[in-house]
Amino acid sequence: MAESGPVDDPALGAVVVAEDALRARVAELGAEISADYVGRTPLLVGVLKGAFVFMSDLARAITLPVEFDFMAVSSYGSATKTSGVVRIVKDLDLDLSGRHVIIVEDIVDSGLTLQYLRRNLLARNPADVEVCALLVRDGLQRHDPDLRYVGFRIPPAFVVGYGLDVAEHYRNLPYICTYTGLE
Ligand code: IMP
Ligand code: MG
Repeated sequence: MAESGPVDDPALGAVVVAEDALRARVAELGAEISADYVGRTPLLVGVLKGAFVFMSDLARAITLPVEFDFMAVSSYGSATKTSGVVRIVKDLDLDLSGRHVIIVEDIVDSGLTLQYLRRNLLARNPADVEVCALLVRDGLQRHDPDLRYVGFRIPPAFVVGYGLDVAEHYRNLPYICTYTGLE
């Protein structure tokens, strides 16, 4: 089947990561994690809502037993800009003591959200905390650049799809494309 393009929505621009590229890279990340965590059961901590699509595909590309938990954070600010003030909206259900935690994020922009999350989770006595980010926006990480697994580094444009949204729209696009409808 031909890949559907964002042609019918004038707010959507170029495809940044196509569906087949996502599939291939997620498979590689799953294989890498599977090799790195042999003999352990990593706990994947998905950052809601944006990471839910990526986490679902990533988990199925990991050949080890894994467990899941989710956290929701919100950073105050407008729809397309992080303010830097992060707040936990939904906390984890599981105890992190002794766990091998992998934070699964959709996109790292300034790195502030991740910096906050990592510090917060490290305070709960896990064995270790690593990060798997699907996207990293190039050149902007002033905070917490220590990313163990990265899917793609992308140019500085706002993107949607594959979990990422603008005001809750476009999360179900099977590819990642730019959003050009900013006011
Ligand atoms: P940071 O705290 O500046 O690294 O921002 C990270 C968070 O901002 C991500 O988890 C997303 O929720 C959101 N975000 C940043 N850039 C984009 C984008 O291009 N599309 C959709 N959400 C984004
Ligand atoms: Mg997010």
